[in-house]
Amino acid sequence: MFKSEIFRTLSGIRTSLFFAVSLLFNVEVSAQQPTQTVWLDDLDLSSATQGYGVPKRNKSVDGHPLTIAGITFARGFGSHAASLLTILTEGKAKSFTAKVGIDDEVKGQKPAAEFIVAGDGKTLWASGIMHLGDPPKLCNVALDGISRVELIVTDGGNGEYYDHVDWADASFEATGVTGFKTYNPISSEPYILTPKPAAFPKLTGAKVFGVRPGSPFLHLVTATGDRPMKFSAYHLPKGLQINSQTGQITGVLTQLGTYMVLIKAKNAKGIAERQLRIECGNRIALTPPMGWNSWNCFAQEVSADKIKKAANALVKTGLINHGWTYINIDDFWENNRNSKDSSLRGKLRGETGDIVPNSRFIDMKGLAGYVHGLGLKIGLYSSPGPWTCGGCAGSYGHERQDAARYAEWGFDYLKYDWCSYGNVIDGLPGDDPYQISSLSYKGGDKLTTAVKPFKIMGDYLRQQPRDIVFSVCQYGMSDVWKWGDSVNGNCWRTTNDITDTWASVKNIALAQDRTAPYARPGNWNDPDMLVVGQVGWGNPHPSKLKPDEQYLHISLWSLFAAPLLIGCDMDRLDDFTLNLLTNDEVIEINQDPLGKQGTCLQTIGELRIYEKDLEDGSKAIGFCNFGIDRVDLSYQDFRKLGLQGRFNVRDVWRQKAVATIESQNGKLQIEVPPHGVLLYKFSPVTKLTHKY
Ligand code: GLA
Repeated sequence: MFKSEIFRTLSGIRTSLFFAVSLLFNVEVSAQQPTQTVWLDDLDLSSATQGYGVPKRNKSVDGHPLTIAGITFARGFGSHAASLLTILTEGKAKSFTAKVGIDDEVKGQKPAAEFIVAGDGKTLWASGIMHLGDPPKLCNVALDGISRVELIVTDGGNGEYYDHVDWADASFEATGVTGFKTYNPISSEPYILTPKPAAFPKLTGAKVFGVRPGSPFLHLVTATGDRPMKFSAYHLPKGLQINSQTGQITGVLTQLGTYMVLIKAKNAKGIAERQLRIECGNRIALTPPMGWNSWNCFAQEVSADKIKKAANALVKTGLINHGWTYINIDDFWENNRNSKDSSLRGKLRGETGDIVPNSRFIDMKGLAGYVHGLGLKIGLYSSPGPWTCGGCAGSYGHERQDAARYAEWGFDYLKYDWCSYGNVIDGLPGDDPYQISSLSYKGGDKLTTAVKPFKIMGDYLRQQPRDIVFSVCQYGMSDVWKWGDSVNGNCWRTTNDITDTWASVKNIALAQDRTAPYARPGNWNDPDMLVVGQVGWGNPHPSKLKPDEQYLHISLWSLFAAPLLIGCDMDRLDDFTLNLLTNDEVIEINQDPLGKQGTCLQTIGELRIYEKDLEDGSKAIGFCNFGIDRVDLSYQDFRKLGLQGRFNVRDVWRQKAVATIESQNGKLQIEVPPHGVLLYKFSPVTKLTHKY
C-alpha cells in the first residue's frame, strides 16, 4: 500500500470514529462543515519569501508553465530556493497534497533543493534532496490540529543557483473554510532607532589612519553637531596641515612612524576633542573602507553624472559626517565588447594600449578631482582577465599601464574582479583569452593560478606614487583570506554576489566565521556590499529585506569588521535608510582600531550570539535572531562570551544604557524580533577611587 493510501485509510478510520463519538455525545455533526479543497494558488502567495524573483501563481518563477521532468501542471506555486510560505490553517486543514520538483526551465544547470512541510514548527514531511529531471515527488501530509503550516524549500546544500522550484497541484483538504490566510512572520513596519545627532560637536569616523611615506595624505576629520564647525589639530607631524573649515588633513609624510594627533571640533555649543593615531608605514586601510559603490543600484547604467550625484548626496545627506568616504565606480566605465548601447561602444584601448573610458566618462581626472574636492575619495573597477564580468575591457596584459593610469587620474581604490581570467589560465591550451568563454570561473580553485593575477596588479599598485586600496574580488576561491595580504590586498570578497533577500544575507553571514582569524588592520574579509535602500542592479526598488533584517544586516557587517559600501541610489535615500547608516556607535564597532572580526560564540535555537573584541577592552555583542519566532529569554551565559566581572551594558542602536551586570550571577532580559537583532556594548566597570 502506498503511504497516501495508508493515510487515506487512517483518515477514514478517524472520520468514522469522529462521527461515532459525535453521535454518542449528541454533538451536531455538521452538514455545514463539509470537507472541501482549498487550492494553494488561490491563496495570497505574495507573502512568501524566496531567494530570487517573486512568487508565481500557476507559473514557474521565470513565468513559464510549471513543468517537472517533462510533466506540465496547470496549477501550483512557482518559487525559488530558499523559499518560505507560511499558511495559517488554524486547525481547519485536514491534509496537504502537492507534487514537488525542480522546474525544467533551468536545463543545463545543476540545481538541487529540498522541499519541506512543517506544522507548528515541526517537520512533517521532507522530499530529500531533489535534482533537475527527478520525477515529481508526491507530498501528502496530515494536518489535523495544526495551526501554522510552513512550505519551505532549502538550497539542497549547494547554494541557491538556479533552484527554480515548483509546488504543483498543491491543495489542502479543509473543513468549514474556503481559504486560508498566508502571512510573513517578519514585520514590514519600518521603525527608527538611531537618535538624532546632538547639536554639541561629536567627533566621528576612524580613530586611526594609515599612509605610506611619500603618498599624498588625504584624511577628513568628521564630526556631527551644529554648523558652522571649526576643526583644529595639535601635534600634527611636519608636512601635514588641517583645513579648519572642512576638517581635511592634507600634505605628505616622509618619516615612518606613529603620530598621536589631538583633533578638535568646535561650534557655538561647545568643543569636542579626540586622539587620531596616524601610522606612516607600509599598511593602509587600517579600518574597513566605508563608502558607496555604483553596482547594486546602477549596474550597467552607471555614468560620471551619476557618480557626481552620489558624491553630492553623500555630502548633502550628512553621511560624510559619519565617516562614509569612498565613491566607487564599478563595472561599465570602460567600453564594452558587444553592448547594444552606443554609449558603451568604442575603442577599448588607444594606440599605445592605454585604457579608453567609455563616452559616459570623458574626463576621469576631472571626475576624481571633483570627488576629492568634496572631501571624499574615489575608486574604480577592473578585471585581471581580458573582460570584466559585464564584458567591458579588463586589464589583462596591460596591468602596469592601467595601475599607472589610475594613479595619474587620482584614484584611491581599485576593485579587481576575477571574471574572465578563467580564459587566460592553464587548461585552455592555445585558446585566445579574448574569446568569450563560459568557463570563466575555471581554475580559480588552484592556488597558484588564483594568486598570480592579483599579485601582478597588487605589486603595480604598490609602485604608484599614491595609496590605492586594493580590493580583491574572486568570491572567496582558494581561501583568499589566507593569501590576500601577500598580494597587497586590503580586502577580499569571501562570497558570491549578494542580493537583497533574506536568504542571501543569512547564507553569507553564516559562512563568515572561518575567515575571522585573518582580519586585521589593513586586511578585511568582504562579505559584499550593503543591500539597503533603493537597490536593484539597474532596476532600483526598495530593498526586499524587512526593517529588522536590515538592522541585522548592518549589525552583522559591523561585527564582521567588513568593508561598508552602500549600494543604493543616494538620490533616493529615505529616512529609515539614512537613520540605519548614521548610527555612530554602530559604525564605531565596525571601525574599531583593534581590527578584530566578531564571531558567533553561542547558539540558542536560532539565536546566534556574536562577539567582537574592541580596543578599549569592551565587547560588542550581537544577539542575532535567524529564526521566525520572537526570542524572549533571560540570558545569563556571560562567561560563554568571555565576559568576566562587572559590565555596563549599552544598546548601541538606541544609544541607551541598558543595565549593569555581574557576569557571575547577572541576568539580562533579551527580546529579539524574528530576523532581528539586539546590538549591545559590554564595557567593564572600572573601580572608581573617590577623593574626599
Ligand atoms: C561581479 C562582482 C560584482 C560586480 C559585477 C560587475 O559579479 O561580484 O560585485 O562588480 O561583477 O560586473
